Amino acid sequence: VASETAVGSPGEARATGRAHGSDDHGRRGHPRFSAGAPGAGDPYLPFAGNGGIDVRHYDLDLRYTPPTAEPAPLEGHLDATATIRLRATANLDQFNLDLRGLEPSAVWVDGKRARFTHADLNDQQPGPDELVITPRPKLRKGERVTVTITYGGTTGRPTDLEGALYGWVTTRDGAMVANEPDGAATWFPANDHPTDKATFDVDLTVPQGYVGVSNGVLERRQTRRGWTTWSWHAPDQMASYLATASVGNYEMRTSTAGPDDVPVLDFVDPDLDPVNAATTETTLGLTDEMMDFFTGLYGDYPFVAYGSIVDDDSIGYALETQTRSIFSRVAREGTAAHELAHSWVGNAVSPYRWSDIWLNEGWATYSTHLWTEHRGGPSAQAQFDELMTIPADDPFWTTVVADPGPLGLFAGAVYDRGAATLHALRGEIGDEAFRALAREWVERYDDRTASTADFEALAEEISGQDLTQFFTVWLHTPTKPVEW
Ligand code: ARG
Ligand code: ZN
Repeated sequence: VASETAVGSPGEARATGRAHGSDDHGRRGHPRFSAGAPGAGDPYLPFAGNGGIDVRHYDLDLRYTPPTAEPAPLEGHLDATATIRLRATANLDQFNLDLRGLEPSAVWVDGKRARFTHADLNDQQPGPDELVITPRPKLRKGERVTVTITYGGTTGRPTDLEGALYGWVTTRDGAMVANEPDGAATWFPANDHPTDKATFDVDLTVPQGYVGVSNGVLERRQTRRGWTTWSWHAPDQMASYLATASVGNYEMRTSTAGPDDVPVLDFVDPDLDPVNAATTETTLGLTDEMMDFFTGLYGDYPFVAYGSIVDDDSIGYALETQTRSIFSRVAREGTAAHELAHSWVGNAVSPYRWSDIWLNEGWATYSTHLWTEHRGGPSAQAQFDELMTIPADDPFWTTVVADPGPLGLFAGAVYDRGAATLHALRGEIGDEAFRALAREWVERYDDRTASTADFEALAEEISGQDLTQFFTVWLHTPTKPVEW
């Protein structure tokens, strides 16, 4: 599902020019066709996502061979078919999907072979990255088609702009798959931007004995001739960066959590070191209480299931992969609370542009502060006061929270000043308005994206206050807030 604003965005206009708006018909009423843009129009990642298409559903059929040699080089092999249902949002004679590090071998549009190229447009990342498809017949605006792509190749350990591991990260015994912000393209042809959410079905075929974990609910598990297919169904709208297909020798446990008994499927690596294993057990035992707590704060849990993947390998961070958060080596209580809270703030409501990332990280961090207070630890006020002891000349205060730059997406200030912004806002508008804001934020933008401007507008609407000065000081100024 693409938001209306993604179509005709600046990035799209560059490549398509005349194709959009009222002018998609020529003088004699013959439709004009043009190429969909190679980006969704996000200035931080100009080639993430694409113009002219709205993906409705991804059906991914992945066969994965993990590293085998001893000592294992961290390379695996993927052999895959993606069946993608999409709608044209413009008259298209060409459109793109994002695919990086794997090679496309054939493309069909509604069962008919289509020409394609694999172009290297994004010089922020090595190798070809844009799968450019030429459908014949051309696509009319509003038309729905099924695009089938066979692809595959060697999997390695891709990194984001900051050098962090992401995407399909090959591990000794499988893969840890975590795509934020634009790593989905390392394992499937994607419209890789949060403005195009879709539903997913993932069939993950791995050598017998390995466990393949994706989003949503496990529909079936079938072993034939030494390969096990794990079939996952994820019927909730999901941004591509939240998809996963992690592989390991995990143990699966099932339970339920929260007031509505959400089904929980956890996958824990039996090879965690003993201290981490004990910490992880304690943390996972708190999921039920965390679910109660955040449901009280934000409203009903937005998805069909929840659960955690805890791998004995590390990508250096945890990610709120939708319905199935992933953790490196250990799941600590604070991190688990943070990732679960992202279900509402980040996953149900996602950033409209990557510059809006503080809306994910500030809310998730503040959620953890509230959870810590609920558990009898330091109060949210105490956690705010602690942050405000950072001296005004510390570089921490130079991050502009609502525009941290493509290399500052996960800067400490995005998290901690983001959380402090919410605490200060609560002081400004009062507890009652703040609680109403948290719930309405999720309710209004559920299954969609929202921007910092949307948030500022909603805070003003709910409080009835003019918050211009407040937000300028907290979100848009590279200095320590002193008065607001
Ligand atoms: N959203 C994750 C979290 O705060 C962090 C993701 C970091 N991603 C990255 N590519 N460095 O839980
Ligand atoms: Zn986070």
